[in-house]
Amino acid sequence: MEIQSLLNQYSERVDSYLKTCIVQKSIDPILQESMLYSLFNGGKRVRPTLVYMVNTMLGGEMSYADSVAAAIECIHSYSLVHDDLPAMDDDDLRRGKPTCHIAYNEATAILAGDALQSLAFELIAVDKYLSADAKVQLVKEISIASGYQGMAVGQSFDLRNVGKPLTIAQLETMHQHKTGALLKCSVIMGAITSGKADQDQLIALTDYARAIGLAFQVQDDILDIEGDSTVIGKPQGSDMAQNKPTYPALLGLEGAKLKLQQLHEDAKQALAPFGSEASELKALADFIVHRDH
Ligand code: IPE
Ligand code: IPE
Ligand code: MG
Ligand code: MG
Ligand code: MG
Repeated sequence: MEIQSLLNQYSERVDSYLKTCIVQKSIDPILQESMLYSLFNGGKRVRPTLVYMVNTMLGGEMSYADSVAAAIECIHSYSLVHDDLPAMDDDDLRRGKPTCHIAYNEATAILAGDALQSLAFELIAVDKYLSADAKVQLVKEISIASGYQGMAVGQSFDLRNVGKPLTIAQLETMHQHKTGALLKCSVIMGAITSGKADQDQLIALTDYARAIGLAFQVQDDILDIEGDSTVIGKPQGSDMAQNKPTYPALLGLEGAKLKLQQLHEDAKQALAPFGSEASELKALADFIVHRDH
């Protein structure tokens, strides 16, 4: 199946799960509206797709992956709402629409992000399929990946290093935290929801996740230079204007593209033990490095 059809299929599944969860609750109307605004605005749903693909590849039941796929998208969408705030990247366009703080106001955007973050944990906690043991493992993975050992510290490092020359190793560490951590977490959580991953499979999947996690941010940095705002749905040139630490800033555009190619090879290599079973994950790696948005 074409990667776009796979992405559509998994997006529709996680979107309908998320919509049901949020609409069913009686939430303050503005908070609810701003949460829905931030979630349902054309995101690619790469992280939920990873959860579903790994779950399926390992022979899991997709209904065991729904709450987890929804949870990781809540964390990701929250991270974007906060990333766009004036105190962070100060961007006014996201997924082709005004960012949450422009459409509403800063306080609402902060709170919509907060609420999406805590919703992620609630979704896992109240899931009706997963065992209590699996839920604890999942909450641990998502906490580590999103907090001070993962996305939050990566974002902190990003903001503190604006305009400063980083070494390649520092840049890689920053990208692995701010972006790689949630992508890796999606892969590992997909494996947990299958209930069937063995140690060797987890090692191979972790290698795959590290490669695509970094590749994802390298291509994001390249798109900031080569992309088209109407296609990427966010302001092109924002990194350069703010003197952000990025791969193209450090290695030049060609150097960044070479790094991307290497990571693509690493990702495909990591999937070798799964043979043709990994065709969806391979197609997703191809998409991540070739995507135009
Ligand atoms: C954008 O993520 C932010 C980064 C981590 C680079 P995505 O490119 O996955 O954004 P959406 O969800 O598709 O909008
Ligand atoms: C942000 O990276 C990653 C997170 C939101 C954690 P960027 O700042 O490069 O993401 P975009 O380009 O605004 O989507
Ligand atoms: Mg940022
Ligand atoms: Mg940003
Ligand atoms: Mg970016």
